[in-house]
Amino acid sequence: MIRNNIKSDFPIFSYWESRGKPLIYLDSAATTQKPLRVISTLEEYYSQFNANVHRGTYELSQIATDIYEEARSKAAHFINAPQPESIIFTRNATESLNLIAYAWGLNSLKEGDEVILSEMEHHSNLVPWHIIARHTGAVLKFIRMNGDYLLDLESLKKNLTRKTKAVSVVHVSNVLGTINPVKEITALAHEAGAISIVDGAQSAPHIPVDVQDIGCDFYAFSGHKMCGPTGIGALYGRYDILEKMEPFLGGGEMINEVFPTTSNYAKPPYTFAAGTPNISGAIGLKAAIDYLEEIGLKDIEEYEMSLGDYAAHRLAEVEGIHIFRPHTTGTGVISFTIDNVHPHDISTILDSEGIAIRAGHHCAQPLMRKLQVQSTARASFYLYNDKSDVEALASALEKSVSIFSPRRINVVK
Ligand code: ALA
Repeated sequence: MIRNNIKSDFPIFSYWESRGKPLIYLDSAATTQKPLRVISTLEEYYSQFNANVHRGTYELSQIATDIYEEARSKAAHFINAPQPESIIFTRNATESLNLIAYAWGLNSLKEGDEVILSEMEHHSNLVPWHIIARHTGAVLKFIRMNGDYLLDLESLKKNLTRKTKAVSVVHVSNVLGTINPVKEITALAHEAGAISIVDGAQSAPHIPVDVQDIGCDFYAFSGHKMCGPTGIGALYGRYDILEKMEPFLGGGEMINEVFPTTSNYAKPPYTFAAGTPNISGAIGLKAAIDYLEEIGLKDIEEYEMSLGDYAAHRLAEVEGIHIFRPHTTGTGVISFTIDNVHPHDISTILDSEGIAIRAGHHCAQPLMRKLQVQSTARASFYLYNDKSDVEALASALEKSVSIFSPRRINVVK
């Protein structure tokens, strides 16, 4: 069960309330709000323990190092990674996916090798592979999506060949809310001798994740989409694969020895830790994980799914709406279009009612083309939303429909 008063953990809601415009925040797939606990942790770190990590022999630096490394252990535990050393801190899921594409793909793929993605990928899991394919001559193939916005595993099976070297898919779609069967996809990839990569940006915040159960070789996620600070993310990588990979960035901290014309590298995760890391971000991420774990990821999942189902049913009553969400599975993400109303107009009208949603292509242009739309409006719910937010959204959408109704526009003419 999610506490009724959970909104009060997030100072931003009282701030807007006190200015007379309550905030109905429905853009958590873009970034989530932060609980006081995370905000205070950042203040505490900078006020009491700020020093660089892994470099100083003085007490303050050792404390900073300890709490930074505790954050790594916490992140590992959160997704049930087998050891903290298999967690690399990055800026976000995008950087995690780029790290795999460059540090693994650039050195492991050759002309004619195949990488399988899906038709519902975010640009973060497309563009890095476009770049690597251009450099290596690798070929990209796609798992098709069916009419109920689910991946068609038969098309994965057809695409897998002895040339397939990686299958990289999104766990939860940022547009459709679809939860993809990544365990099954991983098993199929492994049977074909390929590695399995999971983009977890929209799953880690919303559903329990166990990378050992999924069996994937890489799993990427972002802190800011799960109540943590911006600028911190993580990549889980199977340790024996990480050990064979080349660095992504070079510089301080990631080395073992450096000579004028050559260098050799530290062991993972430090191979991938060039430069001073985002220490406060990692510590803030730990506070966010503590917060979510105290509430319970299973409870968060159940709450969001039921709120998502409620929202999908309620919004279906709005005249002219088209909802892009599977019937069988789905998180709290609802993308939609409304006849005769541009998604940006929907978003602007909702804003005037204090409701924040996202409108656009959601960094998923190939998926938009597949859906045969240029853009959608998207409401994304999180643990601090409730049915009253759904009602406010539905009423504001009804208002948008009446403003843009062709009947009314004719009268104005
Ligand atoms: N990927 C984020 C979203 O879907 C930014 O909004």
